[in-house]
Amino acid sequence: MSAREDGPQGELTLRTLAMPADTNPAGDIFGGWVLAQMDAAAGIRSAECARGRTVTAALREVSFKSPVKVGDTVCIYTSVTNIGRSSMNLYVECWVRRQYSEERQKVTDAHFIMVALDGQGKPRAVKSA
Ligand SMILES: CC(C)(COP(=O)(O)OP(=O)(O)OC[C@H]1O[C@@H](n2cnc3c(N)ncnc32)[C@H](O)[C@@H]1OP(=O)(O)O)[C@@H](O)C(=O)NCCC(=O)NCCS
Repeated sequence: MSAREDGPQGELTLRTLAMPADTNPAGDIFGGWVLAQMDAAAGIRSAECARGRTVTAALREVSFKSPVKVGDTVCIYTSVTNIGRSSMNLYVECWVRRQYSEERQKVTDAHFIMVALDGQGKPRAVKSA
């Protein structure tokens, strides 16, 4: 699935504030922190979809288009694009709303592959909602 640039795609799954503790020494937000928010959102959405425990199996093609600044509201949108036997493909977008502003910018997007697990940590069939 390709990303439309005119607005967020998918369901708003996670919203949080970029804080000073999440910056590098230059004062910019770490890319790894952004990926952690996307991973958390993929975890929330896939667990809802699978109605149980899931794990991140793979993450594909991440490139950052805009920076995240302290005070920005970070919004993560998710779409379930495919469900296999135990795996789910999710398209995840990260957008920011700039501090004290209506301005919204896309930061990055990525494809996550999440896998439903049983109680022993082995892949199990997805019981989709
Ligand atoms: C992901 C994991 C559960 C797969 O276990 P496995 O025993 O290799 O299971 P399988 O080969 O049967 O794969 C299970 C499903 O995941 C898919 N899958 C696994 N790795 C994949 C990858 N790298 N890319 C795409 N799909 C993948 C398989 O295609 C399969 O999909 P399906 O059931 O819908 O057909 C296992 O490797 C694991 O637990 N990895 C660690 C995950 C983790 O800890 N993530 C957080 C890191 S901090």
